[in-house]
Amino acid sequence: MWLTSLVVVLPACDDHVIGQGIPIRAACLRDPPLTYDNFGDGMISRQCRPCHGALVRGGQRGGAPIGVDFDNEQDVLDWADAILRVAVEQESMPPAGGMLPRERELLAEYMRCDVLPRLGQVDLVGTGEDP
Ligand code: HEC
Repeated sequence: MWLTSLVVVLPACDDHVIGQGIPIRAACLRDPPLTYDNFGDGMISRQCRPCHGALVRGGQRGGAPIGVDFDNEQDVLDWADAILRVAVEQESMPPAGGMLPRERELLAEYMRCDVLPRLGQVDLVGTGEDP
């Protein structure tokens, strides 16, 4: 009888390795952690809401699709996957740039350590345990 060898490939401990279903190994150790109230709201209001707000109409939206609005924490949860894709992975939002790399890192941390766990999408394997 043949034994099947199981090869487990672990992602490198890379802050940018994030996304649905990926075990997040980088520690979320910031205390207090980044939350919607102390980070997300302000960042989104500066960088995203000028176009992506329910009260932003017509040409003021800069082409942002109707209904793609981030007015509150629930919206961020609802749009989490798309926000991660465009603002963290592809860095295609905001369209004219203007987000500092550091700000994107903080956004990635907020998404990884607060938003995704709320959605039950990440396995915080080893958080606080790994070197
Ligand atoms: C200047 C206006 C403007 C700003 C500011 C802006 N966006 Fe957008 N956004 C757009 C436009 C235009 C589109 C549609 C075209 C596209 O998808 O590239 C869009 C589309 C999107 C979509 C839908 C993409 C998809 O494929 O489903 C998401 C999600 C998004 N933006 C997130 C963000 C986030 C997060 C920020 C802030 C970090 C942001 N946007 C800032 C104009 C803007």
